[in-house]
Amino acid sequence: MPTVLITGANRGLGLEFALQYSASGWQVHACCRNPAAATDLAEVAGGARGRVVVHRLDPTDFAAVGQLADELSGTPIDVLINNAGCYTRGGFAAARPETAFGNSDFDDWERVFRINVFAPMAMAEAFVDHLASSEQSKLITISSSMGSIGLNAGGGSYAYRSSKAAVNAVMRSLSLDLAERGIQVALLHPGWVSTDMGGPDADITPELSVAGMRKVIESLKPEDSGCFRDYRGKNLPW
Ligand SMILES: NC(=O)c1ccc[n+]([C@@H]2O[C@H](COP(=O)([O-])OP(=O)(O)OC[C@H]3O[C@@H](n4cnc5c(N)ncnc54)[C@H](OP(=O)(O)O)[C@@H]3O)[C@@H](O)[C@H]2O)c1
Repeated sequence: MPTVLITGANRGLGLEFALQYSASGWQVHACCRNPAAATDLAEVAGGARGRVVVHRLDPTDFAAVGQLADELSGTPIDVLINNAGCYTRGGFAAARPETAFGNSDFDDWERVFRINVFAPMAMAEAFVDHLASSEQSKLITISSSMGSIGLNAGGGSYAYRSSKAAVNAVMRSLSLDLAERGIQVALLHPGWVSTDMGGPDADITPELSVAGMRKVIESLKPEDSGCFRDYRGKNLPW
């Protein structure tokens, strides 16, 4: 039975990943900051006959990341999904160029980098042996087309855009550095999805986005490592 570990699995895309992988018979390690409040995840776990194990993990607590890696020592992880992420305090309105420029909140910017950039790296460092010892060895990070410098035609969203561009650079380096351990690295753009982050006007549902991303993950080959693709498998410009 293949194993997946997901951060931010209590809601949005992370919850949908947990649901779909468990329904496909995978062993799921579902991480979230507050399991006691994660009622939707508890429901998924309840219907999965032990295939979903819920872990308390705030991926920005790097000591806790190391502790979970120790707890799971000897457990091969086929697919690790760095999914937990955040936008900017105040959401899209606060991130528009006309409201954000001249009002940069650098404390918030640091917070965004901690979850969107540092945490995926901390997870990679802590779980590298678990990934290397598995059959599939895939390190996946949910990025965003908003991290593409080439696709930026809208401006604004300085913290979010720069954090996703940064995590793209980090994961691209990891694809080269971890190749000798057989680990494949990919950055995925989920589409504009109707979650708390994406809002109700989004283009697609979490079901469609995650089904697409799972296909992209499944079809990854060693020569694809370091790619930046959307949920339909289309390569995106950096
Ligand atoms: N939705 C979209 O349209 C869209 C588009 C492009 C990329 N993405 C990316 O997709 C990923 C998942 O987003 P989503 O749409 O599912 O968002 P969401 O519904 O807002 O869920 C975000 C998840 O990340 C966790 N999280 C947020 N801030 C955190 C922090 N500071 N420390 C630890 N965990 C934190 C949340 O945990 P709590 O519940 O504990 O807060 C939650 O589990 C993110 O990386 C996002 O950037 C989404």
